[in-house]
Amino acid sequence: MATAPAGDATFPLEPPHDRLAAWFHGAVDLALRHVATLSEQPAHGPAPSAAELAAAGAPVGEEGSDPLALLKTVIEEWVPKSFTTAGPGYLAYIPGGGLPTAALADLVAGLTNRFIGIAAAAPLLVRMETSVLRWLLDEFRFPVGAQAVLTSGGSVANLIALAAARDRMVGAAVARGVVYVSDQVHHSNTKAAHLVGFQRSHVRLLPVDPAFRLNLDALATAVAADRAAGLLPAVVIGNAGTVHSGAVDPLAALADFCARERLWFHIDGAYGACFQLCTAGRARLAGIERADSLSLDPHKGFFLPYGTGGVLVRDGADLRQPFAQQSAYLPQASAAEGLQDFTDASPELSRDFRGLRLWLSLKTFGARAFRDALAEKLALAARAQREIATIPGLELTGPCDLSLFAFRVARPGAAGDELSRELLVRVNRRQRVFLSGTQLGGRFVLRICVLSFRTHADRIDAAVTAVREETAALLAGR
Ligand SMILES: Cc1ncc(COP(=O)(O)O)c(C=O)c1O
Repeated sequence: MATAPAGDATFPLEPPHDRLAAWFHGAVDLALRHVATLSEQPAHGPAPSAAELAAAGAPVGEEGSDPLALLKTVIEEWVPKSFTTAGPGYLAYIPGGGLPTAALADLVAGLTNRFIGIAAAAPLLVRMETSVLRWLLDEFRFPVGAQAVLTSGGSVANLIALAAARDRMVGAAVARGVVYVSDQVHHSNTKAAHLVGFQRSHVRLLPVDPAFRLNLDALATAVAADRAAGLLPAVVIGNAGTVHSGAVDPLAALADFCARERLWFHIDGAYGACFQLCTAGRARLAGIERADSLSLDPHKGFFLPYGTGGVLVRDGADLRQPFAQQSAYLPQASAAEGLQDFTDASPELSRDFRGLRLWLSLKTFGARAFRDALAEKLALAARAQREIATIPGLELTGPCDLSLFAFRVARPGAAGDELSRELLVRVNRRQRVFLSGTQLGGRFVLRICVLSFRTHADRIDAAVTAVREETAALLAGR
């Protein structure tokens, strides 16, 4: 629907109600039309042309133009030239989805534009977000006194957790502190360790077992060696689902070890922690409830759009320690029960109203819908893995601890890697699904990660068919 451009002579930034309404209705129509065709869209778009890149980078002009025309170009011409991350065929990296309730929430949050960094500025809205955080803490069986905060994603969640761990464990002696991770850890953890002051040379990348889970003996040996050398072992980071193969480290054993050795136990659950919501997942994550801190990503396993992570800390005082400060120009910290100044638990002061996305989605669909969807993803990944295992010429490279597994062409060395790379290109060229690859144990592997709420059995079967047919053709030299 075309509308007149903005441009009231006196206050052009305040268009009249009717024009605003036309903009919003038009934008919603455009976006919903896009969503309605997601399952037919190619799993990834073609590369943009030079002319499109130039158009997308065109400079801002002094005069305005029609926002609906601009959005039409974005949605119909630019969005398709990207990975279809919101679609059912997206099985690459770590999918999420983008629940439409979150978009509704973002619309309302943007229009009402309330400030929620400080509880005094919007007590009921802060209370609402805090109630979702408490619900999350309860799902993970964190005790009374634990505290959580929403972040922009898993990377910032890991950063906050490591800041809390640093202050609790080593404080000003951070230069002698040591962090222990498996060599499968997501790079955001090593980045976070460095950002909060640990020396890069004091982040121990430990070997894993054949299932890509952290090797406990190697951990014990490294901690003992560091103590003997006069260093300060401080933090162990366990994975609740690695990004490479989905491996879940032995969380309960790591919790025991950390308790014995008096180390901070952080769990990176950005990908996998969400499976705590369903019975099958909870069993596979046993021990997660014993973490000192836990990162998770609602924009992955709660299917929200990108931009929502979270961190849970066992002792709320530890979460506040690095961040809480009084400032003369802000209201005094809120004392009312149940209220929390989010800025006291994060490096951020001003931030988006991200709690509304999570709250509205959970309240609209109810927790059971999420539990069921997550159980479905576990089952779909197991089904895909079982089928891939039957394809002649392929081999699995490990178990499927959650909803992610890897496989490759069963040929040794560089030649095998080349075939696996070629298989990935061929499968993706079909455009029904989009897979990604990684290195595991020095070899190139393909991986399938099932996490979008829009992915169901039909698409998994399409993925398996694509892999089966392309493997046969590849190995037959066609
Ligand atoms: C295991 C793991 N940790 C951390 C991250 C980083 O999360 P984010 O991209 O939300 O910052 C990811 C992202 O995929 C991840 O899979």
